[in-house]
Amino acid sequence: MLRLACSTVLLFVLRLLLALPWAQVLPAVLIFFLGTGGWNSLRVFMKTIGRDLHAAVVLLKVKLNVNRHLRQRNTIPKIFAETLQKYGDKTALIFEGTGEHWTFRQLDEYSNRVANLLLQHGFREGDVVALFMENRLQYVGLWLGMAKIGIEAALINFNLRLEALVHCVNISNAKAVVFGSELTDAMCEVHSSVGKSVKLFCSGDWDPKRVPQGTECLEPLLQATPTHKPSQPQRGFTDRLFYIYTSGTTGMPKAAIVVHSRYYRMAALVYYGFRMRSEDVLYDCLPLYHSAGNIVGVGQCLIHGMTVVIKKKFSASRFWEDCIKYNCTIVQYIGEICRYLLNQPVRDVEQRHRVRMALGNGLRQSIWEEFMQRFNIPQIAEFYGATECNCSLGNFDNKTGACGFNSRILPFIYPIRLVRVDEETMELIRGPDGVCIPCGPGEPGQLVGRIIQNDPLRRFDGYVNQAATSKKISQSVFKKGDSAYLSGDVLVMDEFGYMYFRDRTGDTFRWKGENVSTTEVEGTLSRLLDMKDVVVYGVEVPGAEGKAGMAAIADPDHTTDLGKFSRELEKALPPYARPVFLRFLPEVDKTGTFKFQKTELRRDGFDPTVVSDKLYFLDCTKGCYVELDAELHRSISSGKQKL
Ligand SMILES: *[C@@H]1O[C@H](CO)[C@@H](O)[C@H](O)[C@H]1NC(C)=O
Ligand SMILES: *[C@@H]1O[C@H](CO)[C@@H](O)[C@H](O)[C@H]1NC(C)=O
Ligand SMILES: *[C@@H]1O[C@H](CO)[C@@H](O)[C@H](O)[C@H]1NC(C)=O
Ligand SMILES: *[C@@H]1O[C@H](CO)[C@@H](O)[C@H](O)[C@H]1NC(C)=O
Ligand SMILES: *[C@@H]1O[C@H](CO)[C@@H](O)[C@H](O)[C@H]1NC(C)=O
Repeated sequence: MLRLACSTVLLFVLRLLLALPWAQVLPAVLIFFLGTGGWNSLRVFMKTIGRDLHAAVVLLKVKLNVNRHLRQRNTIPKIFAETLQKYGDKTALIFEGTGEHWTFRQLDEYSNRVANLLLQHGFREGDVVALFMENRLQYVGLWLGMAKIGIEAALINFNLRLEALVHCVNISNAKAVVFGSELTDAMCEVHSSVGKSVKLFCSGDWDPKRVPQGTECLEPLLQATPTHKPSQPQRGFTDRLFYIYTSGTTGMPKAAIVVHSRYYRMAALVYYGFRMRSEDVLYDCLPLYHSAGNIVGVGQCLIHGMTVVIKKKFSASRFWEDCIKYNCTIVQYIGEICRYLLNQPVRDVEQRHRVRMALGNGLRQSIWEEFMQRFNIPQIAEFYGATECNCSLGNFDNKTGACGFNSRILPFIYPIRLVRVDEETMELIRGPDGVCIPCGPGEPGQLVGRIIQNDPLRRFDGYVNQAATSKKISQSVFKKGDSAYLSGDVLVMDEFGYMYFRDRTGDTFRWKGENVSTTEVEGTLSRLLDMKDVVVYGVEVPGAEGKAGMAAIADPDHTTDLGKFSRELEKALPPYARPVFLRFLPEVDKTGTFKFQKTELRRDGFDPTVVSDKLYFLDCTKGCYVELDAELHRSISSGKQKL
């Protein structure tokens, strides 16, 4: 067995060596040695060669698998069928909430019913159906069933309401919406705006009197549908699987296209890179409308036969009990989850679990070690990679604080790079030849990934909206005339090539684990406030993760009714997007192009001793805005006041 593994690895390395462009490699190695200086470069070489070889093997393995799937015109449902063959009666998914267990066979049957039902209702390959529901096992069964007949699911954030919800359904061109009964009210509010031709299905316990007219109840229909395998569509590995919405840097959420190969690649890179095993049990408490929960998490079940525990919603107090109950060995996180867990009182259950790895992104360096030690977690598997971006990184070797690395010895094997950027505007800084300037160790820069459209591993599939796609792509980044994907994130690399996060800048900020698009919030607030000028930005609050939202509102005549505003805000925006602070001023500065000047506002923050304008604070216990005075400011800054 071991011999076999060794020879496979050797074969990979051999293939890798043969695949290398040696005319490029030798000068690069030489430059590296001369450039970093004798002994030091030897030190770097010795420290990183093992890590780099592992990564090279992983990349090669995933590449070979992708090539095979391409050749065989496989899709995620077909790969799932292979998994089903192997693991049939093993538990595939568990729902922590009701305790439901589904074996691979049950998941297969449920998704077959979904496929057959949609076919009966006249849906065809290439149609889009929106999925708007909270986490549950059916969520996976629904999109998998759609994929079986080539129907593309649009996975909609269940926190969205009103305009943003209508927008997401609308841009997806969905022919139907399947919504969870828990979201009946949200669906009723937008029913008249989403179009008469859109069919509605409700999943879960529903009340026929409350749902929008014409809604059909899904479960009885599914019960009456046969479980046989539906006929195969003409889909291949590079066709669309589903859409995930990202709050990009401007405006409303954008639908990012996820093709089958991308789904596979994201799940497989994580699986091989972090040396996971199919016997692992993964605890997934992240929302399934994002790639972390649905691809990195659920993908391990569909592709690698792992048991995945799906939690309805993250709960800090139940987290470790759940892990113990299901013998979880891997947990998923986002940075905020780690902080909420650390804020819990110490209990002995938090050490009694069998979790060997925490997998996720956004764990801050400041709490990294405390998190590992307190909860007795041997390995942090931090990775970086937006749904739509191909410049993924992974911290494969448990390096404290890093979100990944790139080889220092042969950096061009993996075509990503940090390039110099104006951190305020995120504009790329170019040399005299018009090409971007790569960063050295210790120099912060924007992460970019080269685009090679004919390589499925390196494709950028873009957004549904072409204009949104072109904003994320720039020319002449690595060399003259090429094109590259701009991640929008600033990272910094150390001498060994490990990469570390710098805080986000630009037009979104993170709050409570979500990206808040300032433009989107500005639009909504302005509408609620009779089209007053509103500027939204994030401000730092000592001790809080991310940035708290703050809105500067131009109100020269003091006509704002704060009580009414708070009530309407609750309906219009999800909790994380509601501004924590308000600042009323006579007018807001604009640039010549009517862009708001945010830099000064951001610097002023929410300190009443600095700002002479009226300030308000959203007191979440009272559900309304209260005046922000020096005492309240102290209480917020010291962490006493809950945000
Ligand atoms: C939905 O999109 C169509 C065009 O695709 C547009 O005409 C319509 O106004 C949009 N509806 C809403 C509510 O945005
Ligand atoms: C967890 O592991 C223990 C011991 O190996 C076993 O007895 C128990 O049944 C497992 N629980 C689950 C939910 O698999
Ligand atoms: C990961 O790093 C931590 C501290 O740096 C160490 O205690 C732990 O043993 C390491 N885990 C593994 C699996 O090597
Ligand atoms: C937020 O934006 C960053 C950078 O664009 C991206 O990596 C991340 O996945 C986004 N998160 C969500 C929840 O949309
Ligand atoms: C990112 O995607 C582009 C788009 O085709 C590709 O050329 C580039 O190589 C990818 N980068 C990585 C690191 O996969």
